[in-house]
Amino acid sequence: MPQVFVTREIPAVGLELLKEAGLTVSVFSGALPIPRAELLLAVAGCSALITTVADTVDEALLAAAGPSLRVVANFAVGTNNIDIAACTQRQVVVSNTPDVLTEATADLTFALLLAAARRLLEGAALVRSGRWQGWEPLQLLGLELHGQTIGIIGLGRIGQAVAKRALGFGMEVLYYSRTRNQAAESALGVRYAPLTELLASSDFVSLHTPLTTDTRHLLGEAELRLMKPSAVIINTARGPVVDEAALCRALQEGRLWGAGLDVFEHEPQLTPGLTELPNVVLAPHLGSATISARNSMARLCAEAVIAVLRGSRPKTLVNPEVYG
Ligand code: NAP
Ligand code: GLV
Repeated sequence: MPQVFVTREIPAVGLELLKEAGLTVSVFSGALPIPRAELLLAVAGCSALITTVADTVDEALLAAAGPSLRVVANFAVGTNNIDIAACTQRQVVVSNTPDVLTEATADLTFALLLAAARRLLEGAALVRSGRWQGWEPLQLLGLELHGQTIGIIGLGRIGQAVAKRALGFGMEVLYYSRTRNQAAESALGVRYAPLTELLASSDFVSLHTPLTTDTRHLLGEAELRLMKPSAVIINTARGPVVDEAALCRALQEGRLWGAGLDVFEHEPQLTPGLTELPNVVLAPHLGSATISARNSMARLCAEAVIAVLRGSRPKTLVNPEVYG
C-alpha cells in the first residue's frame, strides 16, 4: 500500500524528496486523465495524495481513501477542484503552491496579451503557409500597449505581478478586487475602479481571481457588453470566471477585438466555435508551465506531505481550521 499517491507524473525533484523521507510513492502512469473508478481504488488506504487541477477531490474520493488520509497536496495555487470543507470535516490537511508560480503566470498572461494584440498567431500561420508575399503597409495591423488602459480583476499575487509588467509597458492600470488594496495602489501606482467602470474603460481586461461561488461567471453576457469593441480579454485565472459561450458570441459578433485564453470553462473541452476564431489565442493551461516553477511546485507538494506525515503544519496550508 503506497503512503503517497500521485495522480500523474510531477517533476522528479518532488518524488525524490518523498522517497528520501522514507515514504513509499505510487504515481499514476496510465493514459491521462486517470479514470475516476481507477482513482477511487488507487487512493484506498493512502496517507497522502498529490493532486492537480484536473482531479476532483470530493467527499466520495475522501471516503474512498479512508481514515488513513491525512493530507491532500494540490499541485496548483488554485484549490477550486477540492472540497475544502469536506477535507476539514475529515481532519485532512490541504496544501497548495502559491508564490512560486506567480511570475511564470504573469509572464504567460503578457505572452497571451501581446500575441492577441499583435496578431502573432495569424502572422505565424501566414509565414508557415508559404503564401506570404512580403511586407505590406496594411498587413495584420494590431494594437499598441503603450498609453492604453489595462483593467486587472483580482489584485492578488498574480494580479500585482501583471500590473508591474503593464506599468513597464507604459500602460495605465485600473483594478477591481474583492478587497481594495490601498498599499498596492500607492506602491504600484494603480487605481481602483468598480467592475462596471473598469470594464467600460479598459482596452485590455485580465482576470486573476480564484474560482469561487462569487466569481463563477463574474463576466457574463451583460458584463461583456460593457466592454469596448476594441478591447481584448485575457483569462489565465479559471475558465468558469467567464461565461465562455457568451464570450464566444461576443467575439463572433465583433463586440470584442480579441482574447487570450489559457483556461476554459469545461477543460479540456472548448465551446464550439472558439477554435475557429482567428482573433483568439488559445493555450492549454500553461500559466505555471516553466521548468523552475513546476520544480518548485513539486518541492512544495512534497514538503507539505512530509511535514504533515511528521506531525507538523505545512508552509502552504489552505485549511488552518484542521488545527483548531
Ligand atoms: P491570490 O493572491 O489569492 O489573488 C486572488 C485575488 O483575487 C485576491 O486579491 C482576492 O481578493 C481576489 N478575489 C477573490 N475573490 C474575488 C471576488 N469575488 N471579486 C474580486 N476579486 C476577488 O491568488 P493568486 O496566486 O494571484 O492566483 C489567482 C488565481 O490564478 C488562482 O486561484 C488560480 O485559479 C489562477 N492561476 C492560474 C494559473 C494557470 O496556470 N493559468 C496559474 C496560477 C494561478 P482578496 O485580497 O480579498 O482575497
Ligand atoms: C494553476 O492553474 C494553478 O492554480 O496553479
